[in-house]
Amino acid sequence: MNDAAPLGILSAIPEELRHLEDRTEGSETLAGLSFHRGRIEGRAAVFVETGIGKVNAALTATILAQHFGCRALIFGGVAGGIDPALGIGDVVVATKLVQHDYGALVDGRIEAYQPGIAPLPGVDRSPGYYMGRTLETNLRAALAGIELPSLAASVTGEAARQASLHFGTVVSGDTFVNCGMTRERMEREFGALAVEMEGAAVAQVAERFGRPWIVVRCLSDLAGVDSHLNFPAFLPVAAKAAAVVVRQAVQVL
Ligand code: ADE
Repeated sequence: MNDAAPLGILSAIPEELRHLEDRTEGSETLAGLSFHRGRIEGRAAVFVETGIGKVNAALTATILAQHFGCRALIFGGVAGGIDPALGIGDVVVATKLVQHDYGALVDGRIEAYQPGIAPLPGVDRSPGYYMGRTLETNLRAALAGIELPSLAASVTGEAARQASLHFGTVVSGDTFVNCGMTRERMEREFGALAVEMEGAAVAQVAERFGRPWIVVRCLSDLAGVDSHLNFPAFLPVAAKAAAVVVRQAVQVL
């Protein structure tokens, strides 16, 4: 695509977008959403707060691709941690995104399918949107050695430590995961590093338009019983760390 076309920069809530947005060139309201033209790391960009959830994210991503002609869609924000090796403040770059709540309910359990595919027995059950190999290679190189904020003892609950960056699977769905049992299932079934509520919807739309996507998430909580307390407590620090990575990531685009 045309290099002059803007990047679409999305976050779900104002606390996440705050660290990314640098408005300079005017705004437009569509479908009740405010799109702000500006620049990120010298590149033309359109910034927008999607609102929470997959439908909001898909609607916004569609407008960015169709109306603004965005050449790539980049989501920056926070997530709940799924992989027990990760802690609050660690950052995940999605190389695969799965909509964990699209599928069939069988014996009280959800079986995930790729959105749009008939969720019926005998139909291929390997859901997921994959980052292209070249983009992944470029991103890994661009982000190698990135300096993430150090995490105070109040964040880690133990000794202060350095946040780390990870690449892997992120799952998305229309529920805030505040449940240790679900967290364990998501780790088992998807090998997920983190869970959030928008990323895989953005990937679905981006793929339809043939545009690359990048989803960066910093862990604000660990998707367990304390998540409703940790999320608001660590949202500011996590949103800021995600933005540091997004700013470096867009330099490969
Ligand atoms: N975003 C941040 N924390 C989350 C959680 N626990 N579940 C879903 N989305 C999240």
